[in-house]
Parts: sequence; C-alpha cells; structure tokens
Amino acid sequence: MYGLIHQALRDLAVLHVGEEEWNRMLENAGHTRPACIGMQYYSDTTTVQMIDMVADRLGLSFDEALTAFGSHWIDFAEQTNYARILRMAGDDLASFIDNLDRMHATIRSNMPQADMPQFEVLQSDDTGMEVRYRSTRKGLAPMVHGILQKLAIRFDEKAVISHRPMDDGAVFRIDRVRAA
Ligand code: HEM
Repeated sequence: MYGLIHQALRDLAVLHVGEEEWNRMLENAGHTRPACIGMQYYSDTTTVQMIDMVADRLGLSFDEALTAFGSHWIDFAEQTNYARILRMAGDDLASFIDNLDRMHATIRSNMPQADMPQFEVLQSDDTGMEVRYRSTRKGLAPMVHGILQKLAIRFDEKAVISHRPMDDGAVFRIDRVRAA
C-alpha cells in the first residue's frame, strides 16, 4: 500500500504513544527507517504488521485497531492536500458513498499501483442504506466500518452501522437514527 496509508498509521500511533516510542517500536520490529515516506509503495504485509503493533500496544484487537484507523483516516486526510477531494465528494453520506469509486479513481491517477476498493449503494431510502464493499484484500471491512462511522459524524447524520462479511468484502447496513 502507498506510503500515505503508513503516514496515517504513524499519525495515529504517535497520537497515542508519542513519536519516540513509535520510532522505538518500529526499530524493535526491524524497520530501520521510519516506514512512511511519501509516495513509496509498501507491501500489504508491512501495513498489517504496523496495525498489529498499534493493536498490541493499545490493548486492542486487530479489528478494533482497524476500525480506529479507519476513523483516523478521515481526520488524517483532512490535514493533507486531499482535504479538497473529501470536501468535493458530497454533502451527505449517501451522495458521498455514491461518489467513492470516482474519488478513488481520481486519486489513483497519481498512484498507478494502487489497488482501490469498490463501493456500490445497493439500496437507499429514508431509513438508511445498504452498501456493498468489494476488495481484492481480505479483512479490511472493520476499517471501512470506522470510516463510515466518522463520515456519518462529519455529515451530522446519526447512524447505526453494521456489516456482514462476504468473500470479496462485505455488505454494510447504515440505519438512520431519527431524533425522538
Ligand atoms: C481523500 C480521502 C481518501 C484518499 C486520499 C484515499 C486513498 C486511498 C489509497 C491511496 C488507498 C490505497 C490503495 C493501495 O495502496 O493499493 C486506499 C485504499 C482504501 N480506501 Fe481510500 N482514500 C480516501 C478515502 C476513502 C474513503 C472515504 C473510504 C470509505 C470507505 C475509503 C476506503 C478505502 C479502503 C477500504 C481501502 C483499502 C483497500 C482495499 O479495501 O482493498 N477511502 N484509499
């Protein structure tokens, strides 16, 4: 995965354990240079190792750490040049999700090796929506969960999110919660 993802992971880790400790953890794990430089491409194994390290250190399960990372990913993107892309992608959760593939395609034009996920709105009405997530990677659905939770907050929409795993991704149910 691209270094951008690792930068975001580093950002999350540093927020929780501080820069010195994170550098020490990387060194102990055999990463001699901070593994997070710009547009470089890293193996997915490195990404998984880093998430494992964050999980261990914070006492979270791997899936919990992935969800936290998904949530942080949006905060992180907002601090980068991609903030504009985020802003342009929609004014509410439904249109944003509808735009996600286009958004990733735009980003991919600068990152030719990227293997982007796919999203499809299966159903949408007043009560909520159902979204299909497809990926060539396994096990990242909890990250999508975290991102969707953060997006709902960003659009000021109260939602309860659940998902069921599929062979090539997951189906997410996003239920709108109405104010009583
Ligand atoms: C401006 C914001 C965003 C940027 C810059 C961005 C960029 C990227 C990049 C570079 C990758 C890595 C692909 C690779 O290295 O092969 C990626 C993967 C991914 N993105 Fe985005 N993305 C953004 C927003 C989102 C949002 C809002 C979602 C919503 C669910 C999302 C879901 C994912 C997932 C799940 C992956 C993991 C890859 C996989 O499932 O196979 N991203 N994105």
